[in-house]
Amino acid sequence: MMGQKTKQKILVTGGCGYIGSHTIIELLENGYDVISVDNLVNSDENVLKTIKKITGQRVKNYRTNLCNKSSLRQIFEKNADIAGVIHFAALKSVNESVQKPVLYFQNNMLGLLNLVETMLEFGVNDLIFSSSCSVYGESKVLPVTETTPLEPPQCPYARTKVMGEEILSDVCFTHQNFRAVVLRYFNPAGAHPSATMGENPRNVASNLVPVITETAIGKRNSMTVFGSDYDTRDGSCVRDYIHVMDLAAAHVKALQFLSENKNTSNFELFNLGIGSGVTVLEAIFAFEKTTGQKLNYQIGPRRAGDVPAVFADKSKSTKILGWEPKFGIEEIMESAWAWEKTRSQG
Ligand code: NAD
Ligand code: WQD
Repeated sequence: MMGQKTKQKILVTGGCGYIGSHTIIELLENGYDVISVDNLVNSDENVLKTIKKITGQRVKNYRTNLCNKSSLRQIFEKNADIAGVIHFAALKSVNESVQKPVLYFQNNMLGLLNLVETMLEFGVNDLIFSSSCSVYGESKVLPVTETTPLEPPQCPYARTKVMGEEILSDVCFTHQNFRAVVLRYFNPAGAHPSATMGENPRNVASNLVPVITETAIGKRNSMTVFGSDYDTRDGSCVRDYIHVMDLAAAHVKALQFLSENKNTSNFELFNLGIGSGVTVLEAIFAFEKTTGQKLNYQIGPRRAGDVPAVFADKSKSTKILGWEPKFGIEEIMESAWAWEKTRSQG
């Protein structure tokens, strides 16, 4: 049709996972065409049916392991019009990474290297990379800005993110046409407002918000607050919980930032958090207040490897990407609870 711009095709790796699936909705609703590559190691392809119900659009998933380079190349051969890549696919369990460091380095590093090598070969130059606040380690400065020095990573998983950032920085230095936007997510939580989609991992949940909702619905008898003797306002750890829909929106902003050539360097870093800290106890109280559910919890010992507090300075993302999170801890709890109720019925 005259005047109608061709849709940009975005390859989303890990598109069936938690953040990937929510981002796909945001991409479709903003006029992008999407294909996904996901080997379903921690997800289920049924999420694509939910995406179809929400957006009316069908997304193809290639059930391919990124560590298999020749299969990955075939996807690029079949899709000569890929305009950019959002790379979510990774293993993400802190505990499992301590048990199986080789698996984590193999999956997360080889997957990234194969992807970048294939992008360079096919002349696909724009990459958005999922990084994590865990790269800051036990930061001496709070809130953390993108230039806050990184302290040692606390586990192999976190190290895969530090290494991923370093690899991309070096690739960008040599290949000046290649552009990487690294997004450091703080603590993603919450679910799609339809309550038909949210976090649905194959592995047992260990993150605070799913543990809270699973306890409230009765999948667990009780939950433990890990530590009440930290040097924080109520003794429990402080984190920056960011709604998954806000994260999804930031990926669209990052793509627009690149397509409008607003980048001043071909390697850019952004923090994605709400910019303030919430303690574990405050998160529990927010859940009880918004849902009216009483939570069965007890105070227990500290969990090994937890940093006392980390939260973002988000001013760079606000100023440069034009991104402003819309939701706080209460909306996170409300949507996570609505999704837990749906999930438990199914
Ligand atoms: P997720 O496990 O729900 O999604 C990751 C997806 O990648 C899964 O569907 C999995 O099947 C797929 N995958 C993993 N390895 C693959 C491989 N080798 N080939 C193909 N597919 C593969 O995780 P998520 O919470 O959506 O996280 C997305 C990204 O964000 C990850 O890179 C994660 O490390 C990062 N991140 C997550 C959090 C968080 O707390 N959820 C915080 C910071 C950063
Ligand atoms: C949050 C707070 C716990 C469970 C992890 C990764 C990080 C990033 C986000 C990927 C902590 C406390 C938890 C429970 C509790 N992921 N808690 N009882 O550890 O901040 O970050 O996910 O990149 O890299 O490390 O998230 O949700 O596990 O914990 O008291 O049953 O809740 O001690 O203070 P964390 P979390």
